[in-house]
Amino acid sequence: MKTYLVTGGAGFIGSNYIHYMLEKYGQAIHIVNLDSLTYAGNLENLKEIQELPNYEFVKMDICNKEDLASLFQKYNFDRIIHFAAESHVDRSIKNPDVFAATNIMGTLNLLNAAKKAWESKDGFLPDKRYLQVSTDEVYGSLDDGDGYFYETTPLDPHSPYSASKASADMLVKSYIDTYRFPANITRCSNNYGPYQFPEKLIPLIINNALQKKSLPVYGDGKNVRDWLYVRDHAKAIDMVCEMGELFHIYNIGGHNEKQNIEIVKTILDTLLELLPESDARRAGISYDLIQYVGDRKGHDRRYAIAPDKIRSEIGWEPETMFRDGIRLTVQWYLSHEDWMKNVTDQSYMKYYADMYGKR
Ligand code: NAD
Ligand code: DAU
Repeated sequence: MKTYLVTGGAGFIGSNYIHYMLEKYGQAIHIVNLDSLTYAGNLENLKEIQELPNYEFVKMDICNKEDLASLFQKYNFDRIIHFAAESHVDRSIKNPDVFAATNIMGTLNLLNAAKKAWESKDGFLPDKRYLQVSTDEVYGSLDDGDGYFYETTPLDPHSPYSASKASADMLVKSYIDTYRFPANITRCSNNYGPYQFPEKLIPLIINNALQKKSLPVYGDGKNVRDWLYVRDHAKAIDMVCEMGELFHIYNIGGHNEKQNIEIVKTILDTLLELLPESDARRAGISYDLIQYVGDRKGHDRRYAIAPDKIRSEIGWEPETMFRDGIRLTVQWYLSHEDWMKNVTDQSYMKYYADMYGKR
């Protein structure tokens, strides 16, 4: 039985990954979910699996080296999937410090703990893997038109968030180059799907539309993001871990570039399509809610991932077409209004206290 350390497993992608892995492997794997439960960590995302004997939650901060050392004393991890991060660009513009602390120093702490645990007289113990979950934002921004990010594209981060993620990637690279530390880096495009915190564009627009609040579109609304359904990302991470060439970087994306304004309109269309006329939530949902607001500082214009390498070397392809994924996503939020309410009124913060005694 392989033991996985998943950091940041109470967040959006981490919790989707844990669900995916437990559905795929069942009792054949053991998952330890390490999360410090910042505002972005929500254990409600995992309530269906919290009693499973092969799943454990550990409340821990990756910035705390002593706690990490004791965790690595207790477990013999085979896989480390490092999601934990401060992830929101707008927050990084207002408060960069915590991004440097968690995304850079937290990653260094984790690398050191894993290196120490996995070192052997011949290098590293066999069949160990560390996977750094990175982002296409480290490549910077593309102009309107053609052009893609490849694994060989030079890093050119612009926001404090992307600079901190690029720094973490460089640290992982340095551990590979210096120690032959058994790691991979994946760089994925924008994810969407269940359990995404409603500060990010898609859940924010769904939630605001249902509340009949204005829908803020930054700048001219023509910035482009390359959207991937979160479960496809989870599958890609698993495939890279098991089939990827050790030490390599893999881009993950599905050639699904959309302007922000197109995303906002698609969400409104989908809400109107899914909500019956008799449903009170339907009234007042229209394009009139859209409000153009001031632009994000340093707003990257366009992201577009070239996923050729992961497709040709590993055989990964996205399975969810955007029109299906956005329908599934809107449907999920419509049928999980309690989840959204608990997040927006902050009662989700109590969930841990109720489950484990204190937050
Ligand atoms: P998220 O903000 O939803 O979740 C992050 C999780 O990390 C939370 O549960 C939080 O409590 C935890 N965390 C934060 N600081 C911590 C610390 N110091 N110690 C332990 N846990 C801590 O983020 P997400 O959107 O799920 O992103 C997960 C990872 O994927 C990040 O590394 C992000 O950079 C990367 N990524 C995200 C996207 C995207 O579209 N969301 C795309 C590509 C890559
Ligand atoms: O590309 C991968 C990245 O995608 C991840 O590394 C980040 O962790 C993740 O947060 C995401 O970053 P973005 O900045 O692209 O996502 P966000 O949802 O914040 O914004 C998407 C686009 O929508 C972006 O061009 C800004 C715009 N936007 C966002 C918000 C919150 C708006 O127009 N209005 C908004 O209210």
